[in-house]
Amino acid sequence: MHKQVLVTGGMGFIGSNFIRLLASTRPDWTVVDLDALTYAGNPANLEGLPDGFDHRFEHGDITDGAVLDRLFGAYTFDAVVNFAAESHVDRSLLGPEAFVHTNIVGTVRLLERVRAHPTTRFVQVSTDEVYGSLGSEGVFTETTPLDPSSPYSSSKASADLMVGAWAHSWGLDTVITRCSNNYGPYQFPEKLIPLMILQAREDKPLPVYGDGRNVRDWIHVEDHCIGVLAALERGRSGEVYHFGGASERTNLDVVQAIADRVAGHRDGITFVADRPGHDLRYAMAFDKAESELGWTPSRTFEDGLDDTIAWYLSHERWWQAVLSGRYRQDHARLYDGRLPTSPSGQAMGPEDT
Ligand code: NAD
Ligand code: TYD
Repeated sequence: MHKQVLVTGGMGFIGSNFIRLLASTRPDWTVVDLDALTYAGNPANLEGLPDGFDHRFEHGDITDGAVLDRLFGAYTFDAVVNFAAESHVDRSLLGPEAFVHTNIVGTVRLLERVRAHPTTRFVQVSTDEVYGSLGSEGVFTETTPLDPSSPYSSSKASADLMVGAWAHSWGLDTVITRCSNNYGPYQFPEKLIPLMILQAREDKPLPVYGDGRNVRDWIHVEDHCIGVLAALERGRSGEVYHFGGASERTNLDVVQAIADRVAGHRDGITFVADRPGHDLRYAMAFDKAESELGWTPSRTFEDGLDDTIAWYLSHERWWQAVLSGRYRQDHARLYDGRLPTSPSGQAMGPEDT
């Protein structure tokens, strides 16, 4: 059935993969893509969408009430899928206010428009990081209490609470999805996997924070997007759904796998100062999505990683453009003072990227 959906952050990593999924599986939908084009938003992420797919890009900010009023006046959205966010933990430690503004205020501004349009379903794309850190045992379930650690995860947890408040107070039709660490094509190379692929390709240092024993659960972005679409179409109103990859790996395991595949040796692995407040481990139970949505992750980490490496190695024009300009300055700021802790390591500097 034809739907009109507002996708926010559709020029980012997951949002653009989601729009590609809609183009191939829901070709008759109209997709309005509202994106502020921050450093992470890149129109090249959506190059080559099929002819005839009704994708309407709107350059604007989710915190801009006038833009939202115009869009909600022009369209009757069946759903809003809110991907737009500041998404990088390290950046949130350097400059938290942008995270409060976009992730919390932006979500509230969207919720206020949806309140005035009760037939619109609101899908909030959230993260496992809202639960804080696990020890070596256990998994997060949808009822685990929120206990976020970083400015990023705290802003996402706050946004989730706002979604709950709007559903409870005004009966909005909402669904919250929470997912583990994504990887795959079009991911901005400040995140672990693409950063390591590009560093290894040039035989540059591979900076592992702390001792590398922190554990993340990795999910291919296409599996996550299939889950978000299932939640949009079949999720029960007011519910939270988890998506995970059943692929827990230590950071050192991930970096070694990339070093082996891309550089052919591990000499670049460099232990550097730890991230402040670094969460030890995330792991997701996703049996609710399996039983209620018929969703299950389809990719193994090793297959997905091979595909992702092949994608980055064959899309040099994409990442060369991404790495030029503003990102170089950001990268210098992010890594300034993060000195290696291993005697053989070299300091990361802007010229290393
Ligand atoms: P990303 O940083 O790659 O993309 C974010 C997009 O949002 C960019 O296109 C950016 O231009 C846009 N944006 C930022 N601020 C905006 C604003 N104020 N108004 C409009 N657009 C704005 O992020 P991502 O990795 O694609 O993550 C997308 C969503 O998924 C986020 O909400 C994130 O919290 C969530 N999530 C991400 C992961 C992950 O591993 N990357 C895991 C779970 C959940
Ligand atoms: P990241 O991709 O930033 O995602 P998140 O912090 O949201 O989990 O980082 C994934 C893990 O990799 C995290 O434990 C931090 C670690 N990490 C490094 O060890 N070195 C790096 O250069 C980066 C970017 C991350």
